[in-house]
Amino acid sequence: MPRAPIERREVLRHLASGLGLIALPAWLRVPGAYADRLDPTPRQTAGPFYPDPLPLEQDNDLIILSDSLTPASGIITHLRGRILSLSGEPVRNALVEIWQVDANGVYLHPRSGGAARRDPHFQGYGRFETSSSGDYYFRTVRPVPYPGRTPHIHLAVTPPGRQRWTTQCYIRGEPGNARDAVLNSIRDRQLRERVLVDFRPRPDSSLGELDARFDIILNLRA
Ligand SMILES: [Fe+2]
Repeated sequence: MPRAPIERREVLRHLASGLGLIALPAWLRVPGAYADRLDPTPRQTAGPFYPDPLPLEQDNDLIILSDSLTPASGIITHLRGRILSLSGEPVRNALVEIWQVDANGVYLHPRSGGAARRDPHFQGYGRFETSSSGDYYFRTVRPVPYPGRTPHIHLAVTPPGRQRWTTQCYIRGEPGNARDAVLNSIRDRQLRERVLVDFRPRPDSSLGELDARFDIILNLRA
């Protein structure tokens, strides 16, 4: 098999490191510098628990509802990343949606198990439009396992004028990852790495907050 061009290997190494493209050397951060050399992030099913109905509040802060002073339970997690094309161009004004279980493993969905345990302070869903640099950001909680699944966050990305595209991101090092059928439906180990995210302790956080970075590469020609 031919070796990947050095630029691409460099980009993939940084993606795998969890540092994201921001940590790339300056010459590789030039948009288009690695024209069409990035592999797209694996697509994953939206699953059965896209919120139904959607919550009234849909901003990118999932842990504080506007009419409440009580934050959601769970470990506060700052999830951020960039949406990029295969050539590394930022995808601007893309709608990014996330949805996930609360700290008790319950979705904002009538068929989710354990509805009586649902955290009323957790928004369960959020949306954000990418900036001119393709960046997105959410404040949420660390997802927990629920029956049959290792912890994960669902994401949907809708670039302007395009179909919605979905995936899921996972916590690197979670013991349940090895048994998760959805994660392991990505057969290729290197591609699977692309949806594994380091949830790192946020420096100087007295609350034990976490930082997570998930860059997404879209094939906009598909
Ligand atoms: Fe799920």
